[in-house]
Amino acid sequence: MTKSSKPLLRVEELEVSCHQDGKWKPIVQDVSFQLFQGEMVALTGPSGCGKSLTAHAIVGLLEPGWRVTQGKIFYQGKNILDYDTSFWQKLRREEIALMIQQSLNGLNPIRKVKKQMMETLLLRKDSMSRKDMNGYLHTLLQQFGFHDPETVLSSYPFELSGGMRQRVLLAMMVSLQPKILIADEPTTSLDVMNRERVLVLLKKLQHDFGLTVLLISHDQQSVKKFANRIIQLE
Ligand SMILES: Nc1ncnc2c1ncn2[C@@H]1O[C@H](COP(=O)(O)OP(=O)(O)OP(=O)(O)O)[C@@H](O)[C@H]1O
Ligand SMILES: [Mg+2]
Repeated sequence: MTKSSKPLLRVEELEVSCHQDGKWKPIVQDVSFQLFQGEMVALTGPSGCGKSLTAHAIVGLLEPGWRVTQGKIFYQGKNILDYDTSFWQKLRREEIALMIQQSLNGLNPIRKVKKQMMETLLLRKDSMSRKDMNGYLHTLLQQFGFHDPETVLSSYPFELSGGMRQRVLLAMMVSLQPKILIADEPTTSLDVMNRERVLVLLKKLQHDFGLTVLLISHDQQSVKKFANRIIQLE
């Protein structure tokens, strides 16, 4: 792990509020932590403590009626809260990928995996030919533990198991080459074996791609086993 002195991401005294009865009511308060290049950090804490809201605030995806009311979020030294919608879109596309909670439903059920993965690749800065995309997707899926990428690519999501869909989603996110991957409870809806598998995969991504991972999980055991560091929210 390469740990440079400057954090890649720094969250400082973050407060997220929701608009209620004409006022902003703080829901998440005083969240501070930093993420260094190449590490896997777990964000943990009891249900409802604000882990998901924090993650959504980091990538500018708070729902209408929600807002960051205090604090700062620095990405590569810049306070990203100062930026506009198009900047956030670019940030999500190129820098910080968020795999949302309950994202097993994140794949479009009526489109084949290949189509969805290709569409994701089109968002990349570097343009690839269709032939290159095809080769890339095969290699990528192999890296994600699929021995028969062609079958997966020509499947509809419902033809895959939960663990397989989760790995396809992760592959899709990694195909955009983000610097940070935030995985919000990536394993909750999976059985024990697939949980382990997805976490091993995240660990491998951290090593192989130098990916910085923020793992949001209340599964203490896996957190202890896989994360380099643990941040506990109250
Ligand atoms: N859309 C919403 N409308 C109303 N309240 C919300 C909404 N989203 C979150 N909250 C509230 O904000 C608080 C923090 O929610 P958040 O989803 O961030 O918790 P969490 O730590 O991710 O919990 P879990 O471990 O269950 O996923 C909770 O008390 C929740 O009830
Ligand atoms: Mg949550």
